[in-house]
Amino acid sequence: MENFDLMISSEEITGKVKEVAAQISADYKNEPIVVVGVLTGAFIFVADLVRELSVPVECVDFVQISSYKGDKSTGNFIFKKDISIDICGKNVLIVEDIVDTGRTLKKLRELLMLRNPKSVKICTAFDKPSRRVNDLVPDYNCFTIPDEFVVGYGLDYDGAYRAFKDVRIVRTDDE
Ligand code: IMP
Repeated sequence: MENFDLMISSEEITGKVKEVAAQISADYKNEPIVVVGVLTGAFIFVADLVRELSVPVECVDFVQISSYKGDKSTGNFIFKKDISIDICGKNVLIVEDIVDTGRTLKKLRELLMLRNPKSVKICTAFDKPSRRVNDLVPDYNCFTIPDEFVVGYGLDYDGAYRAFKDVRIVRTDDE
C-alpha cells in the first residue's frame, strides 16, 4: 500500500512554469523553436510550458525512448517513437519530466545532434542532481529536488498517479 507526502503544490508548479517559460522566451529572442517532449511523463509539462512561451513554437513533437533489454546501466537506447519532423537547422528544445541519472537525456541529445539542428537545449520540470552519473546539466529546470521517488504532474509509479496536479513523494508501508 502506498502513501503520499506532498512535495510541490500545483500552485507552485504553475508559477514556476511561467517563470521558466519567460526565461526561455527571453533567451531565444523571438527565434522559432521546435519542442520535443519525452513521452510519457512530459506530456503535462509540455502542454503547460508551450502555452506560456512567447517565442514562436514552430512544432511540437514527441519521442519515446527505451533501453535495450537489461541494458539500462550502459545507456544504450532505441527510439520506441521518433519525431516525424526534420530538425536540420532548427532550434530544438527537449522537454522532459525529470532528470535522474541523466542517461536518457545525454543520449537523446547526442542522437538529435547527429541531425544537424541549429541548437539543442534541455528543459526539465524536475531535477535530481544527486543521482547524476554523467555531466548532464539541463539548460532550464523548474525544481531541484532531493533523491526521493515522486509522482504526479506526469510522473508515474508503475503507470499510475500521472494525473495528480501536485508532486508527491511515494511512501510504501515498510518505510
Ligand atoms: P534518467 O535516464 O535516469 O535520467 O531517467 C529519467 C527517467 O526516469 C524519467 O523520465 C522518469 O521516467 C524516470 N524517473 C526518474 N525518477 C523518477 C521519479 O522520481 N518518479 C517517476 N519517474 C522517475
